[in-house]
Amino acid sequence: MIPWGTRENLREDEFYNRIAEIDNLKSLLQTTSNGNAPQILLTGLRGVGKTVFLKKIKKELDNDYLVVYINFSKAECYQKRNMSVMGLMEFFFKEFLIEAKNKNLNTLDKRIEKYFKVNDFKIKEFIQLDKFPIPVFGSETNVEKLMDFVLTLPEKIHESNSDKIKGVLIFIDEFQIIKELDDYKESFLWKLRSYIQNQNYVSYVFSGSMSMQDELISEIASQRGAFGGRMLTINISPFSKETVKSYLTQEVPNLKFSDEGFDRFFKCTSGIPAYVNIFATLLPKDIELDENLVKSEFEDKIEVINTHLIVMWDKLTLREQYIIISLIDGPLKRNEIAKTLNVTTGSISKPLVNLQHQELMILDNNLYYLSEPILKRWLELEYEKNGTYPFRLD
Ligand SMILES: Nc1ncnc2c1ncn2[C@@H]1O[C@H](COP(=O)(O)OP(=O)(O)OP(=O)(O)O)[C@@H](O)[C@H]1O
Ligand SMILES: [Mg+2]
Repeated sequence: MIPWGTRENLREDEFYNRIAEIDNLKSLLQTTSNGNAPQILLTGLRGVGKTVFLKKIKKELDNDYLVVYINFSKAECYQKRNMSVMGLMEFFFKEFLIEAKNKNLNTLDKRIEKYFKVNDFKIKEFIQLDKFPIPVFGSETNVEKLMDFVLTLPEKIHESNSDKIKGVLIFIDEFQIIKELDDYKESFLWKLRSYIQNQNYVSYVFSGSMSMQDELISEIASQRGAFGGRMLTINISPFSKETVKSYLTQEVPNLKFSDEGFDRFFKCTSGIPAYVNIFATLLPKDIELDENLVKSEFEDKIEVINTHLIVMWDKLTLREQYIIISLIDGPLKRNEIAKTLNVTTGSISKPLVNLQHQELMILDNNLYYLSEPILKRWLELEYEKNGTYPFRLD
């Protein structure tokens, strides 16, 4: 049995491979116990397994460390399309506190209460989460002070619990959404850096579906970046052809590929575990899967494999959709896209940025590329079937 491709927690026996990556990240993180907390950037394509990987590492280090997994995209301010530093900090605080309390650590409640009073934090209300009351800050609370408070808390919690934990590990998933903050570098990234660089027992792992070309990586990790070359990068790659082969042979032995059938399977999924798992689950078992059958099954099942991208497609504006379509036959420059759409280059600036933020498109050497082959294939098939693309109707 293999897990469905949207699962975020895999059982021990469902999690395949990644032995070197696990060793690597674990040994880096364990230097936190000597007061050498590293800062790490975990990169990899969408669906490659970053989230399940972080959750596995969390499980393995949970006994010795306070490990806090925070998925920024689950922050209310992001979900309600109302991104703010304040909203992110509030979310960070909430997730951090719940984890620390569930671990029965001393969370300095009295000191925090006093700090709120002295600094005039406006508490709107307390919400009950996981049995614990968590404050919700009023909009008058000073953002700088809130950031200062939230980002220095992990170190303080470590200090007052150093008999119980060797350090604090904070995993921030979907970190790329900070790009939706106005002026995210000035307002967030540089400040974040200034807090975490001096915290010897607090390690951060930033992760998100950022392709290697992405500007954010250089903003964060390069010599010139916010972390001045001190950040270590770990990349999670898709499974190789051999890995997919041994994975499926072991986990789904009743999938009977011919050689060409398997080649086609690998090509369709690009070795991305999310797609491998969904497609392998959907394929018929115990019959020979030759190239043609795999191809037609893929076209048949593409809507399921592609579900998350279809959801994203449906949320795009019509102009963004037109831009995607203009790139189906190959990469284009900005002015070429504008010409195809019969609009000015200025009017596509914002949609181009949006599409890049959503990682549906990559800019490399002045050329815009589609970054999701499965979305592209789905659009082509829709066109073949209906004679038109599935544009939004308004
Ligand atoms: N090591 C693994 N063994 C087995 N299945 C895996 C493994 N890694 C990933 N998968 C499969 O891939 C799916 C997607 O993984 P995950 O959500 O961690 O990807 P991601 O890189 O976080 O993607 P995104 O960028 O969209 O957040 C999982 O639900 C699981 O089915
Ligand atoms: Mg993820």
